[in-house]
Amino acid sequence: MKKAKMIVSKDFTIGRTNERLFGSFVEHMGSVVYNGIYEPGHATADEDGFRHDVLELVKALNLSVIRYPGGNFSSGYNWEDGIGPKELRIPKTDIAWRAIEPNTFGLNEFMKWIGLVGADPIMTVNLGTRGIEEARDIIEYCNFSGGTYWSDLRKSHGIKTPHHIKTWCLGNELDGEWQVARKTADNYGLLACETAKAMKWIDPTIELVAVGSSTRQMPTFPEWDKTVLTHTYDHVEYLSLHNYIGKREADTPTYLAMPMDMEKQIQEVIATCDYVKSKKRSNKTMQLSFDEWNVWREPDIEYTPWQIGSPYDWVKFHMEDALVFGSAMLTILKHADRITIACQSLLVNTIPLILTEKGGKAWRNPTYYPFEHVSRYGRGEVLRTLVDSPKYDTSSYSDVPIVDSVAVYNEEKEELTVFAINRSDEPIVLEMDIRDFNQYTIKEHIVLKHESLHAVNTADQPLEVHPGQCQDTMLSDGRATSRLDKYSWNVIRFHMGL
Ligand code: AHR
Repeated sequence: MKKAKMIVSKDFTIGRTNERLFGSFVEHMGSVVYNGIYEPGHATADEDGFRHDVLELVKALNLSVIRYPGGNFSSGYNWEDGIGPKELRIPKTDIAWRAIEPNTFGLNEFMKWIGLVGADPIMTVNLGTRGIEEARDIIEYCNFSGGTYWSDLRKSHGIKTPHHIKTWCLGNELDGEWQVARKTADNYGLLACETAKAMKWIDPTIELVAVGSSTRQMPTFPEWDKTVLTHTYDHVEYLSLHNYIGKREADTPTYLAMPMDMEKQIQEVIATCDYVKSKKRSNKTMQLSFDEWNVWREPDIEYTPWQIGSPYDWVKFHMEDALVFGSAMLTILKHADRITIACQSLLVNTIPLILTEKGGKAWRNPTYYPFEHVSRYGRGEVLRTLVDSPKYDTSSYSDVPIVDSVAVYNEEKEELTVFAINRSDEPIVLEMDIRDFNQYTIKEHIVLKHESLHAVNTADQPLEVHPGQCQDTMLSDGRATSRLDKYSWNVIRFHMGL
């Protein structure tokens, strides 16, 4: 059997995970909101129309932040359409997704729902069709205590205490031809800078995210990022990154290697940020907000435009998608020193963690599990694992390590977790030198695997792909040995004591 070796030491620190790395995304898109988290009349819906079967699955993910309301949607959205008495709200066209937006779920409904989840919001303002004035108004509505038009309007809507929303995105993917009212880098950079100033004059405690390149494939990457930062560097805390890893025509070994491009993307964006930092002789280090990341696969349901809540990119992910998804999560963890916000995209029904049927069941996609594991056990000091793993080549990637891994040490809880993926079609033995954790014992070894890489979860078979316990880890004298099954996601947990 093939063998990989790993050293895990407290000295190989990358950085402490920021609380906001464990985030997701709710956009007015497809059936994410309507027939997803919100479905009045559903058997599990409460008086606000929130589906509690979905809510329970969301809560178990232990999310720290949720971005809202878009995405592309936000570039054509008037947030005022979604506040106030519901009977006075009117449906409008959503040109980003060619849908009908009924406006029965808006800002205050989202804030109530996210309160039940127990996460913090990240709000996107419309810098597509709108600009400074709208951004000033929404921040006054949300964060100003009272005595002004917008703050008093909020109070009249029953929300006496300000929402105090801390993190705001200055638009979304405005470099993209698909975006409503895209901009050039200079136009966007200047607009973002002036909007940032106006928003911070109203609430200086907020943090802002400037729009970075939508993908690394954009012809304007990384020039866009450089230009935008040149305008905004002193006024924002984060630059955004997005990435959707899709298998498309690739074979499995190639697909499993694709998170290596995400690694390059992160390195290149860091280099661009640091170039602008040095050009400006700045003492500030720009943080990264990976506020849209996921895997992508062809949808199982065809989208019907100009409907309310028609499923868009509603997809049953396969077992192999969960492996690539896990690897993308590990890639983000490996940059915990610079990536301080990350949002998996999207939470429900669109390339989701959770699938629903209108009027029916809710269940977990296989990708739900790696997210849940990292969210539960991946908080703490991220440790670079020194790995000597066999490698493979494909036509597009060379030297792909069969074992992809990272370790997280939680000093407070006295726990060490090794996340490890076996990218190959045969089992591999992983030898871990954890002598630095000399009084630690094995707590558990969780594994997600399936005989078929194309296995999916359905409404009737919701647990076809689900994690189990593995008894294949042994520990003696600070050296642990695990058997990683073929094509598997592993969470090997050690803790102090017995
Ligand atoms: O699938 C979600 C969409 O993908 C977001 O609206 C957009 O930002 C990205 O292109």
